[in-house]
Amino acid sequence: MLQDLERILFPEEAIVRAVDSLATRVTESFHGTEFTVVAVLKGSCIFAADLVRRLPLPMELGFAAAESYRTGTLPGELEITCFPREEEVRGREVLLVDDILDSGRTLDVLRRKLLGWGAARVRTCVLLDKPARRVVPLQADFRCFEIEDVFAVGYGLDFAGRYRNLPYVAELREEVYAAAGRVRTEARP
Ligand code: IMP
Ligand code: MG
Repeated sequence: MLQDLERILFPEEAIVRAVDSLATRVTESFHGTEFTVVAVLKGSCIFAADLVRRLPLPMELGFAAAESYRTGTLPGELEITCFPREEEVRGREVLLVDDILDSGRTLDVLRRKLLGWGAARVRTCVLLDKPARRVVPLQADFRCFEIEDVFAVGYGLDFAGRYRNLPYVAELREEVYAAAGRVRTEARP
């Protein structure tokens, strides 16, 4: 597995420091509100688990997932495959947490759905932000790191379902995409 990595982008210690600082900002912003953290599966599971354990506030935890239509003809058309419970969202503030903000489609679709389900307000939070790839004009309210247009894996981020369990974030080598028969910009779930 390690031979597939080009370089480490963010070592464990840097992630710990960034999540600590993020948790302080989130705590200040959500203090005194009724709020729910909605973690986007599967990529945000490790990030969200680390973040919520640093929030000394009453809160609820919900989950959501969105996947590209496999047989769809429109690129970026998303199907929501996991929903938070209605009572976790209705009338509450939501912190929508994902591993990475790339084109912006996933968070845009989920944010609109959450508002449609009655969330009082939705703020977004990501570990990584890749602004160069944005298609939908969406900015994260909270983020840990900005990265260039490289394919990142580890700390929850995957390529073809693998590498999520790495404790750091690394850049995947291009040969790995080539071996999987994909080009860089198409190598997205
Ligand atoms: P978006 O909808 O294009 O913003 O993409 C969000 C999703 O694409 C993330 O939740 C990831 O699953 C996936 N993704 C985008 N870039 C990367 C990457 O560099 N590594 C791993 N997954 C990525
Ligand atoms: Mg993901």
